[in-house]
Amino acid sequence: MTNMAIELVRAKPADVKAMYGLIRTSAEEGQMLPRALSDLYECLRDFLIARDPADGALLGCCALHIVWDDLAEVRSLTVRADQRSHGVGRTLVAQCLADARALGIPRVFALTYVPAFFHKLGFHDLDKEALPHKVWSDCLRCHKYPDCDELAVAIDLV
Ligand SMILES: CC(C)(COP(=O)(O)OP(=O)(O)OC[C@H]1O[C@@H](n2cnc3c(N)ncnc32)[C@H](O)[C@@H]1OP(=O)(O)O)[C@@H](O)C(=O)NCCC(=O)NCCS
Repeated sequence: MTNMAIELVRAKPADVKAMYGLIRTSAEEGQMLPRALSDLYECLRDFLIARDPADGALLGCCALHIVWDDLAEVRSLTVRADQRSHGVGRTLVAQCLADARALGIPRVFALTYVPAFFHKLGFHDLDKEALPHKVWSDCLRCHKYPDCDELAVAIDLV
């Protein structure tokens, strides 16, 4: 894997349509769940984006969503298909974990179809039933609910 130059910034409203397109493409490929445009605007402050410093093009995005005082979720992680395997996903998740640490949140989880990627970053498998009920209230909007086929992974930051 070659690590490419990446600019990591907080997402702004002007980035949302490109983020929506990226997430929709990965969702159509069955790799992640879709997000509505309105949902992205509402949760925009959760999002980091990775850009190509040369031309500002969107390379990927990822959200850190706070669930409770001791738990946050990495959500909507995706990297442009032609930019994968260059460390963009790792960089985005590492910054989310740094943000969680800075906020004093000791545990971060993800629901994912690619647990092996998260294992590389130090996450371990988790029984979904171990997650608090609060998590599932957000799942009510998911078209797969209640037949969630994602796997849960988590990392303890202390
Ligand atoms: C999963 C995804 C975000 C990984 O992003 P990426 O930029 O390609 O990943 P990185 O280059 O940072 O890889 C980091 C490590 O994870 C490994 N890895 C990456 N994708 C992997 C996968 N699908 N399965 C297993 N390992 C994977 C890499 O080999 C690398 O390991 P190394 O450090 O030993 O070389 C990207 O493939 C993607 O956007 N997929 C479609 C959407 C998706 O599945 N999102 C996750 C939803 S939670």
